[in-house]
Amino acid sequence: MKVAEITKNDLKQQIQNLLGSDLKAVRQLLEDQFRSPSMFVQDVAQHVSRFQGKQIRPILTLLSARVCGAEAEHMPKAQRLAAVVEMIHAATLVHDDVIDDSDLRRHVSTVHRRWNSETSVLFGDYLFSRAFHLAATTGDAEACRLIGRATNRTCEGELNQIAARLEQSASERDYFRVVYGKTAQLFAVSCRLGARSARIDQYTQNQVSLFGARLGIAFQIADDVLDLTESSEQTGKDAANDLTNHRMTLPILRALRMGSPAERQKTRELLFSGSPDDRIQLRQSASVQMGVESAQATAERFADRALRCLQNIPLCEERRVLEAIATFSVFRSH
Ligand code: IPE
Ligand code: IPE
Ligand code: MG
Ligand code: MG
Repeated sequence: MKVAEITKNDLKQQIQNLLGSDLKAVRQLLEDQFRSPSMFVQDVAQHVSRFQGKQIRPILTLLSARVCGAEAEHMPKAQRLAAVVEMIHAATLVHDDVIDDSDLRRHVSTVHRRWNSETSVLFGDYLFSRAFHLAATTGDAEACRLIGRATNRTCEGELNQIAARLEQSASERDYFRVVYGKTAQLFAVSCRLGARSARIDQYTQNQVSLFGARLGIAFQIADDVLDLTESSEQTGKDAANDLTNHRMTLPILRALRMGSPAERQKTRELLFSGSPDDRIQLRQSASVQMGVESAQATAERFADRALRCLQNIPLCEERRVLEAIATFSVFRSH
């Protein structure tokens, strides 16, 4: 794919220039949401919010609003919805870390390592609940319905991932179904909520949402690649956690189809019957490296397809930044 004209540092600066005040408002909303009369809840909330993530979903909401011409009076609602999607995302991560039995998240220990799984389950529930409550304060029933539907599908995606592992599925169809649910839905609704708050026509809302869905798929494939290629210092998460958990991610599925028959056989053996350490060694194998390359090309193709959804939007700074985000989502190191 064509590499964006904007460099990574420029992109951060441009996001700051375009959305600085919006993001400040979102951070304030999140901070307010993390306040609780319970000291224990405050402790957990403080731990979880010690490091911010990339905030790509709220950034997408705010940029989608602005690219669709949102007026100043529309922005407070867009900010509120941006905070909602970030909270839903945070809730899925707290639960996902239990599912994946991970040690690290955003460079700090996961909630179940720091406390226990009960705390993770309930704190994740608490974040979901607060997110839905915050959404309801907009008084926009349709926005709440869209958020509810996206969250239903996200959970279905995570459940389908369990089903795929139980069946030892090695089908790309199953993989894409999981990713379309667990990641693409929240990206899509993040974009749609922004476009909708600008009161743009339905066709454009659908295009912006499709942009989000395709970007979400590209983003998840890139994440699956990073699991195999990056250190935990770089990502702030456990390295090779997908391998440890027998996750059939796209690079692994491709690895099973690439390389010499002997290599493929070796990959299969290590993947299904090797010890956890054996599986981590797979990161160095030639077939996994080919799988990584092939999956990376697919991620780039999805990012390209996402960009096409923005074609009818007038060229403006906001659109250029959205395009650069799509590109950097597949050329990132964390
Ligand atoms: C991690 O999401 C989960 C995936 C969908 C891959 P992010 O990479 O957006 O996580 P943070 O919020 O930046 O930590
Ligand atoms: C999780 O995907 C996506 C969610 C919807 C929670 P991953 O399991 O790949 O996310 P990380 O790698 O733990 O961030
Ligand atoms: Mg995970
Ligand atoms: Mg991952």
